[in-house]
Amino acid sequence: MITLKSAHEIELMRRAGKITAAARALAGEMVTPGVTTQEIDHAVYQFIRSQGAVPSFLNYQGYPASVCVSVNDEIIHGIPGKRVLQEGDIVSIDVGAYIDGFHGDCAATFACGRISQEAKRLIDVTRQSFFEGLKYAREGYRVPDISRAVQEYVEKNGFSVVREYVGHGVGRKMHEAPEVPNYVMEHSPRPRLLRGMTIAVEPMVNAGGTAIKVMPDGWTVKTADGSLSAHYENTILITDGEPELLTDPSGLPE
Ligand code: MF3
Ligand code: CO
Repeated sequence: MITLKSAHEIELMRRAGKITAAARALAGEMVTPGVTTQEIDHAVYQFIRSQGAVPSFLNYQGYPASVCVSVNDEIIHGIPGKRVLQEGDIVSIDVGAYIDGFHGDCAATFACGRISQEAKRLIDVTRQSFFEGLKYAREGYRVPDISRAVQEYVEKNGFSVVREYVGHGVGRKMHEAPEVPNYVMEHSPRPRLLRGMTIAVEPMVNAGGTAIKVMPDGWTVKTADGSLSAHYENTILITDGEPELLTDPSGLPE
């Protein structure tokens, strides 16, 4: 069931979104050579708690950290640990915060020091594919209109979208209906977008093929071919006009 949020619930989601977006920005600023992924996790945990919120991911289906840190060929769900970030890495940060009954959820991929031109292009295309999808995140369109716009932009640029993981509704639960895939199929469900819907649009984009593999830790998802991958996500509110970005990305680099 797709829930429509009331004005009051939207206020609460703005608050969760603000904290989540600030946590992403803080984590992104920490992405520098020599930092360990668990240092980022600890800082994010402290920040989210300092805001009176709870990290949405911590203990979610047994997930052991407050943030996902996915490096290079890791697509999503990288578990923070002793890994030391290196110059040239690309680092996807995914974070959620829960406060007053509602979640925020957002992600972005950051450059660690200087990175290759192709890695930079992957990050830029992934981010832009979100904004291509966002053009259809309005009443009068349907979920697959978003999906198609993301997929077409990514593929036009020579990259591929991940199929096994998708965007989703966000609210009292981190994952609600509807699913928001980054690709379309002939028989995809076609839910209408209505004001009051809050959804996470989150392209996961591989430089190479679309295939994935899950690591033995049970969480980390990598590209099957070892190619680089990037991720970009915001929680958004469907309105009677422009969508509202509840996890405001304006504080991120470019
Ligand atoms: N942020 C992810 C999503 O968008 C969820 C992370 S899974 C967790 O669906 F286990 F790390 F929480
Ligand atoms: Co999400």
